[in-house]
Amino acid sequence: MQHLSIDLGTRSYPILIGAGLLADRALLERLLPQRNLLVVTNATVAKLHLQALLRGLGERNVATHSIPDGEQFKNLDTLNAIFDALVRARLHRDAAIVALGGGVVGDVAGFAAAIYQRGIAHLQVPTTLLAQVDSAVGGKTGVNHRAGKNLIGAFHQPCGVLADITTLRTLPERELRAGLAEVIKYGLLADVRFLEWLEGSLERLLACEEAALEFAVQRSCEIKARIVATDEREQGQRALLNLGHTFGHAIESATGYHDWLHGEAVSVGLLMAARLSARLGWLGDADVERVRALLQRASLPTSAPQVGAARALEFMAMDKKVQDGKVRLILLPRLGEARVSSDYDAGKLRATLQEFLGP
Ligand code: NAD
Ligand code: GLY
Repeated sequence: MQHLSIDLGTRSYPILIGAGLLADRALLERLLPQRNLLVVTNATVAKLHLQALLRGLGERNVATHSIPDGEQFKNLDTLNAIFDALVRARLHRDAAIVALGGGVVGDVAGFAAAIYQRGIAHLQVPTTLLAQVDSAVGGKTGVNHRAGKNLIGAFHQPCGVLADITTLRTLPERELRAGLAEVIKYGLLADVRFLEWLEGSLERLLACEEAALEFAVQRSCEIKARIVATDEREQGQRALLNLGHTFGHAIESATGYHDWLHGEAVSVGLLMAARLSARLGWLGDADVERVRALLQRASLPTSAPQVGAARALEFMAMDKKVQDGKVRLILLPRLGEARVSSDYDAGKLRATLQEFLGP
């Protein structure tokens, strides 16, 4: 088992990564001493992994609540239903929420924990690759608004993250590939040697080889934990973690959150960020082709012509990184290094949008 920690003073917490952790009673007792719990999950994940987690939680007062499965349910109605379940179970401030599932469950359950009775504890138990490397770590919680993704939310750090690699065995291949987009993101923004390792290990990752997955989750979490520890509330450096996301969110918003997986949209966004960086004279064309090749080997999409540049720009205007009317973008001075920039040529942005998203 890999034991990392995210250093946030009194809000520090462990990230445990390994196989077969869900049913480890001693581990769960240490991570989560609360006796009264609400496990929030969905029917898909519950069928596969809830029994193991309930064994791990042992003899406590545990209620469970299932939310509907899908990004389109990451909304205020789903949040309200969690509050109803918390009230029905008569849970108070000494209770905790356990989020068992992918990023949707983690984000909405984490947000419920952030505001129920002004904040209760929660444990993230991510079961998708994307959630293990990204959404479960760092305390961003929230729901979508029809005007854009994650527009309503709060920073609320969990008391721990339990990433059980074994749960990834049941993940549909398309979801695994989408999670790989976020893993590739870390290599691009912070660690070119990790990018090289990914290029050499892609087949092992796609075959769900445990050791390869464990290392990919560990390295991704190390990079994320380091960045979040320096900038918990995204005043600066943390925005780097959004490499590819401004473009990706525009694709998701324009397509109504159901056709595209988040990681798939991020995949196109990563390539767009690389291409715009090349247009600005930072990356070389060979770097852009290297990024494209890796995404394509992972069978991830590299364009979204149905979106349209004009519509994408409308959604980008709602991005949380807009400052003084200009969208700040995460760009790549070189592979393995990222920078936040609002100092880019609008024409080059438009050309990039048109190249990947159509007119
Ligand atoms: P998801 O939560 O929708 O899960 C994907 C699908 O896999 C769902 O159908 C789910 O039921 C199923 N599933 C989950 N675990 C499974 C398993 N082990 N076996 C079989 N099926 C399983 O999607 P996701 O990709 O995990 O997360 C995407 C969400 O995360 C988006 O809402 C995105 O905005 C959010 N996100 C948040 C952050 C953050 O910092 N909070 C970061 C990145 C992404
Ligand atoms: N997923 C980006 C962040 O957590 O900041």
